[in-house]
Amino acid sequence: MRSLGGYLELQLSRGEEFYPSLLKLNTGRNAFEYLLRVNRYRLVHVPYYTCEVMLEPLKRLGIAFQYYTIDEQMDPVLDFEVGPDECLLYTNYFGLKQETVVRLSRLFQNLIIDNSQAFFSAPQEGIDTFYSCRKFFGVPDGAYLQINSPQRLKLEQDVSFERFSHLIKSIDLGIETGYEDFINNNVQLSNNPVRRMSALSQKILSGIDYKTCRYRRNSNFMYLHDFLEAHNDYRFDASVINGPMVYPLLTSSLSLKKKLLDKRIYVASYWPNVLEWTTKMMYEHYLTSHLIALPIDHRYTHADMKRMLNILKTSL
Ligand SMILES: Cc1ncc(COP(=O)(O)O)c(C=O)c1O
Repeated sequence: MRSLGGYLELQLSRGEEFYPSLLKLNTGRNAFEYLLRVNRYRLVHVPYYTCEVMLEPLKRLGIAFQYYTIDEQMDPVLDFEVGPDECLLYTNYFGLKQETVVRLSRLFQNLIIDNSQAFFSAPQEGIDTFYSCRKFFGVPDGAYLQINSPQRLKLEQDVSFERFSHLIKSIDLGIETGYEDFINNNVQLSNNPVRRMSALSQKILSGIDYKTCRYRRNSNFMYLHDFLEAHNDYRFDASVINGPMVYPLLTSSLSLKKKLLDKRIYVASYWPNVLEWTTKMMYEHYLTSHLIALPIDHRYTHADMKRMLNILKTSL
């Protein structure tokens, strides 16, 4: 029975999560580990173009992996076989690769879709798929998992209030002041055991207006695309966008990032580890050093997009 009375708690909106029927876990990488533990693959085909934390579960479980390359559409170059006790891991890059996800779902039984960058892209029926919530919303952690197998792991629930400081600091002191805490709290996510999603993250995720968040992402994305399409070396079909993560601008310029930074426009690099995993001759190496991931999320309006474009226009 719960207690009554006492001090008043932080009050958050009550609503529904976006994926109420999926398994709720603590991190994306641990959702991947959950799949590996249940499906007992012997070898995993991992894209060169992904985040190094995806290797944590493979190393922890001692599962062999082999890198594969992607082409200029960010589709896998399928010049290898996926054996019966092997699987293919594919990232829905920036939330723009749903068509490839659908195609791969028809081609492969042993497939894991990493939708960490594609929160709003629905999982394909019968396809193991996971999501990482902190890439899209202000939560310390949290992941959703669609798993085909009926087998379930028995797990403890995670507790995430000690990794929360950057989220409250940003409200009181501004996002830049909270940045150091963000980095430190990220480090805390490494080598964490697989657990159920914390009550804190779940509560926050239950209070989000997902419809508005998705709408703003689509609208900001298209605002940028109207101008940037002509300058973007990465070609994609913008008619199917569905709340993408960022606007990926690929240009040969190496000075743009610095220009944005000077104006306090922070763009993440996806992913610094790829520079170590690949040679300069490889497309993934070029993508990592040249792709600029422009923020388009629910915090922003067209006025913010215009500010970004004005800076970019001087250099494109
Ligand atoms: C593509 C991709 N997949 C998975 C992850 C892992 O997600 P999480 O931090 O929730 O473990 C990340 C980054 O952290 C990522 O960039």
